[in-house]
Amino acid sequence: MPLTYPATAADYQQLARQRLPRFLADYLDGGATDEHTLRANDSAWAGIRLRQRVLVNVDQVDTGTTLVGQNCRMPVVLAPVGLAGMMAKRGEVQAVRAANAAGVPFTLSTVGICPLAEVQAASTAPFWFQLYMIRDRERIQSLLQTAWNSGCRTLVFTVDLPVPGMRHRDTRNGLAAQGLRAVALKAQQVLSRPGWLLNVAIGGKPLTFGNLSDAVPGARSLDAFKAWVDAQFDPTVTWEDITWLRGQWRGKLLLKGILDADDARHAVACGADGIVVSNHGGRQLDGVAATASKLPDIVAAVGGQTEILVDGGIRSGVDVFRALALGANGVMIGRPWAWALAAGGEAALTSLLHSWQQELRLAMMMTGTTRITDIGTEHLDNGTV
Ligand code: FNR
Repeated sequence: MPLTYPATAADYQQLARQRLPRFLADYLDGGATDEHTLRANDSAWAGIRLRQRVLVNVDQVDTGTTLVGQNCRMPVVLAPVGLAGMMAKRGEVQAVRAANAAGVPFTLSTVGICPLAEVQAASTAPFWFQLYMIRDRERIQSLLQTAWNSGCRTLVFTVDLPVPGMRHRDTRNGLAAQGLRAVALKAQQVLSRPGWLLNVAIGGKPLTFGNLSDAVPGARSLDAFKAWVDAQFDPTVTWEDITWLRGQWRGKLLLKGILDADDARHAVACGADGIVVSNHGGRQLDGVAATASKLPDIVAAVGGQTEILVDGGIRSGVDVFRALALGANGVMIGRPWAWALAAGGEAALTSLLHSWQQELRLAMMMTGTTRITDIGTEHLDNGTV
C-alpha cells in the first residue's frame, strides 16, 4: 500500500527507496563492512529509558536553544551529507530552505552538489560549512575564505576520515569500495543516459561538485575532479594541523568525528568551540561503539568546557531528548533528512522537522521539563542506559 502520510524517519526511508535508483539508496543507507556499528547506533538510543514525571506545570514549553551561539528552534542540526544534492533537484537548496523554515542550522558538505554561493542565495539564515582536511593547504585557505564570504560562521571540520571507509553495499552495486569516487562514477553513467535522474535530481544543470570543484582549477569535469579527490584525502593530518586550522578560521570551529574521551580533551586543548561525537553514521570503522554509549564518558571528560553535539542513529524527537538527557547540547542528523529530501523534497523535510519538534515538545512535557537546558541525567530512568 502506498504510504500517503509518512510520519517517521523510517517512513521517509521507505519512500526514498521507492524513488531513488538502488545504488544511490544503498549509498545513503549503507555502513562500513558488516554494518554492526550502523545497527548499534540505532539500537543504543532505543535502549535508553526515560523517567516519566507527572503533575508538573508544563504549559509553557520551549524547545529553543542556542548552539555555538546561534539561536535554534530546537537543538537539531542537519549534518553534512556528501552528494545530498542528488537526492532531489538542487537538493541542498531545498534542504537549506526547509532548515530555515524549521529554525535549525544546515551544514553544507565539502562534497555537496550545490556550491556555497547557490546555498547562500537560497538561505535566509547563516548556514554551516563542513570541511575535510585536503592536502593542498592553499585550497583550504581559499575554501575557508569562500565559506566566510558566503556567510558561514561555523566550520565543521571532520576528523574521522583519514581515508574513506569500505562499504560492501557499494561493492555489491558494482561500485568499487571507494566511496564518493565510486558513486560519482556511477552517477556519471546514469547521467550520461537521458533519464529521470538528470531531469529530476540535477535539474538540467551540469553535475559539478559544488565546493571542491570550485577550489580546483580545471576540475569541472568529473574525471579531473575524481583524480583530484583521490589525491587530496590526507592521512597525515594530526592535532598540529588542527592548531593551524584554528588560526585560519575566526568563526566557530567544531571537530566532527570524536569518539574517545582523550580525543575530546585534545579538541578542547586545540581551541575547538565544540565537538560532534560521531562515528560517521557507522560508515567508517565497523566495530566501534555506538555514539550513545560513548557520549557519557565524553561528557564526563569535557562537558562544560566545550559544546557537545552527537550524531548517529538519531531517528526521532524522542531520540533528541535522549541525547540531551545523556549530556549533549544538541544533535546532528544525517540520513533522516536525506531520506525526507529524496521522498518529497523541501516540503517533506519541513514536515519531518516539524514532527520531530513536536515529539521533542511532548517528551519534555511528559518528563516534566520546560526548557532545553534543564534536560539532564535526572530524566533518565535510574540513570541507566
Ligand atoms: C555522511 N556523513 C558525512 N560527514 C561529513 O562530515 N561529510 C560528508 O560529506 C558526509 N557525507 C555523508 C554521506 C552520507 C550518504 C551519509 C549517510 C553520511 C556523515 C554524517 O554527517 C553524519 O555523521 C551521519 O550521517 C550521522 O548518522 P545518521 O544520522 O545518518 O545515522
